[in-house]
Amino acid sequence: MSVMNSVMGWVDDRFPASKMWKEHLSEYYAPKNFNFWYFFGSLALLVLVLQIVTGIFLTMSYKPDAAFAFSSVEYIMRDVNWGWLIRYMHSTGASAFFIVVYLHMFRGLIYGSYKQPRELLWIFGMLIYLALMAEAFFGYLLPWGQMSYWGAQVIVSLFGAIPVVGDELSLWIRGDFVISDVTLNRFFAFHVIAVPFVLVALVVAHVLALHEVGSNNPDGVEIKKNKDENGIPKDGIPFHPYYTVKDIVGVVVFLMFFSIVVFFVPEMGGYFLEHANFEPADPLKTPLHIAPVWYFTPFYAILRAIPDKFLGVVTMGAAVVILFFLPWLDRNPVKSIRYRGWQYKVMLTLFVIAFVVLGYLGMEAPSPVKTFIAQVATAIYFAFFLLMPIYTKMEKNKPVPERVTQ
Ligand code: HEM
Repeated sequence: MSVMNSVMGWVDDRFPASKMWKEHLSEYYAPKNFNFWYFFGSLALLVLVLQIVTGIFLTMSYKPDAAFAFSSVEYIMRDVNWGWLIRYMHSTGASAFFIVVYLHMFRGLIYGSYKQPRELLWIFGMLIYLALMAEAFFGYLLPWGQMSYWGAQVIVSLFGAIPVVGDELSLWIRGDFVISDVTLNRFFAFHVIAVPFVLVALVVAHVLALHEVGSNNPDGVEIKKNKDENGIPKDGIPFHPYYTVKDIVGVVVFLMFFSIVVFFVPEMGGYFLEHANFEPADPLKTPLHIAPVWYFTPFYAILRAIPDKFLGVVTMGAAVVILFFLPWLDRNPVKSIRYRGWQYKVMLTLFVIAFVVLGYLGMEAPSPVKTFIAQVATAIYFAFFLLMPIYTKMEKNKPVPERVTQ
């Protein structure tokens, strides 16, 4: 033990190892009332690591070349030892990432975690979300299947809707007049190094910002306002060991679901791996029905709901960007939904329904009725945000307790 202590002492004189351990784990005081919704931050971290590790192994056998990309993925699936497992973990991990992150964001919405003093934490989260979307988009081209190819074709050509510079811009992004080997190479570079690097840096900033202000909780009570004589929040418990142990429970349950998908339904009926992507990319054959993977479909439905292409692109962009402004759109000082009036609850419910409906419609081939429903859902989606300064001011709150309730 004393050898261990002296080694740690030697390290600590040269690097703040023990200091960081204390600051971020053993003496980071988190509210004692975390519930189910607080599992998803640590799960997002887990999936991030999983994606990076499986991604490294995939890269060892994948070939970023239009002539070999598709067959190199088949080679990974059939010939590389455990290649099928690595690939299915990575493809399932992509969808799992979005499931976890959507639930994580929804927690922010129900407990007002984006509000003062956590605005910057929320903004880092939104930047992570943008980076994650870019990461998924670039990665999806790599297997060089029909949907990889035509999906990228549709999305890159959206830039062509921008007036004046549009065509030049999409040409510049592709590096060619159509999606080609050049595009595949640059998307590979972005997917494997550039975006992951940004993603990891943003996650570090996200967690540092969280630890600077402290965690919110299901009651929306600031535990730092109630400290004991030693300066420790009365409603706080050390993150380690209490929440490290709790988070392990979440990890085990998550891995159970994750394994069921990986081992038994890796394609998830075409939701996680689309059927059309089992055919190699063919620039001369447009698939009848082009749809992005499920996590993009709400935004895709918004794009298609607007008849004008340019306005559609702007509206779709606005649907993401507007989330950045949430901390300033919500005028109710009460954080947790537990103590808010009915207005926010009703609007949030409508918003979630609209988001799910849009997600469904984005997967379907358009029809006049479906387009109309998508327009209504888009209106509800934006009403949630744009009317927020009004309805959150009208709410009659319940009294917020001084201390956490559990
Ligand atoms: C790679 C993706 C992400 C990772 C690894 C991550 C990680 C974490 C972790 C470990 C926590 C603390 C544990 C918890 O509260 O669950 C946290 C809290 C938080 N995250 Fe994230 N996050 C990610 C994405 C996002 C996104 C996309 C948003 C929102 C746009 C977001 C917003 C927040 C907020 C507001 C909190 C504080 C919640 C509270 O204290 O109530 N995060 N995040």
